[in-house]
Amino acid sequence: MKAPEYLAPLREELAAALKQTDNAWSFDIFKHTPKLESFTKECLRVFTPSGIIEIMREKRSEDLETQIIQGLQFDSLQLPQDLLWDDAGQILFDDLCNSSVYYLTRKEKEILHKYSSDMVATIPEGSALIELGCGSLRKSGIILSALEKSKKAVTYYALDVSQESLQNGLAHLHKGLGPLDHVELRGLWGTYEDGIAWVADQGPMNAYTSITFLWMGNSMTNMHLAQTQSLLSRMSDTCASSGIRCQFLVSADGCTAEDTVMAAYSTESQPFRDFMLNGLQSANRILGQDVFCSSNWTFGTVFDRTRHEVQMFYTPTHDVSIYINSERRKISKGEKVAVVTSGKWPEPYFRSIVEGIGLQVLDLWTDSDQVYSSFRQRISQKEQRWWDLSSNEYGHVFPDIESICLC
Ligand SMILES: C[S@@+](CC[C@H](N)C(=O)[O-])C[C@H]1O[C@@H](n2cnc3c(N)ncnc32)[C@H](O)[C@@H]1O
Repeated sequence: MKAPEYLAPLREELAAALKQTDNAWSFDIFKHTPKLESFTKECLRVFTPSGIIEIMREKRSEDLETQIIQGLQFDSLQLPQDLLWDDAGQILFDDLCNSSVYYLTRKEKEILHKYSSDMVATIPEGSALIELGCGSLRKSGIILSALEKSKKAVTYYALDVSQESLQNGLAHLHKGLGPLDHVELRGLWGTYEDGIAWVADQGPMNAYTSITFLWMGNSMTNMHLAQTQSLLSRMSDTCASSGIRCQFLVSADGCTAEDTVMAAYSTESQPFRDFMLNGLQSANRILGQDVFCSSNWTFGTVFDRTRHEVQMFYTPTHDVSIYINSERRKISKGEKVAVVTSGKWPEPYFRSIVEGIGLQVLDLWTDSDQVYSSFRQRISQKEQRWWDLSSNEYGHVFPDIESICLC
């Protein structure tokens, strides 16, 4: 039990209640055990029977609605990438991952099969492993089975915004891994930001001295670079201020061969098409009206080599007017509405990004073609010293972590 301090008061309360019922065990006993009732309710709230803990702090659909409306008011139009990750989007993304042209999943599995025992050797006994944006958890089983084999007691938390993915993925993991003696599986339903707040909340994490954040599927490159850097910084910062050591196991696609990259994100690829166009349907569902009529819209992709990323956008097939909250917004044929990026970060570029925020690459594992890599990184000594000093003193070195952009 993680909180043994609750045992004595519960025992005392139950003993007193039994006296009142002449040691008879009946439902009446619960009239005299308010602490037990509250404890049971709290356990069911925090640890749902499926093992999924809800950490979401805001109602997500409202948050997304605001982001959609705001993004369509900017000069350079944009929609939140989160639109892609509704329950339907998760299934479509899985189909994409299984398609022959989507080399990222194949390469990452190759690395995991070859090196997962080396990777888990870096995860300390008695620690927590938090997988960020875990999706369907199809690759996670490779790491978890290596972890179980290594006989290390580790609690694994799968974090994602999709509750359905978590439920199905955890059920799939339980079935695939069989009975586990060392690794405990849990789900965290919420965003990356909710995850940081949850770790900062001390309570749930104070049982561990170390956390490993696992971030697979090239997901760390799906947002603006400054956002990724900010998330990594705040995760390590939060752990440091809670006295917890932390490290990251992340993957990044470093492929620069244009043919290979563009085949994976081709508008001709049916799985990719279905996945992308679902994003517009997802926006309609959130807005509660058909703002993006499917016959008026398509999508496109460009490989921006200077920014080391493939950019994906929606675009109308002819001039359209969209109405949101009775406000009219004209979007011309060919105008781009940015939605998501997928970084193509060769190793030196990856290093410059993480070193820019005081992280240090400790290990590197690549696939046989050297296009895809998994990295282990942790806070560098330099950064540790920086934390020991007051932020004012070093304000001129790191003026505002949110605005650091090395591209
Ligand atoms: C590119 S997929 C990767 C899925 C999986 N990790 C893999 O390697 O196949 C990105 C995943 O991140 C999740 N995600 C996206 N934005 C998120 C956010 N802000 N907070 C938590 N999860 C998020 C999505 O739901 C999706 O499952």
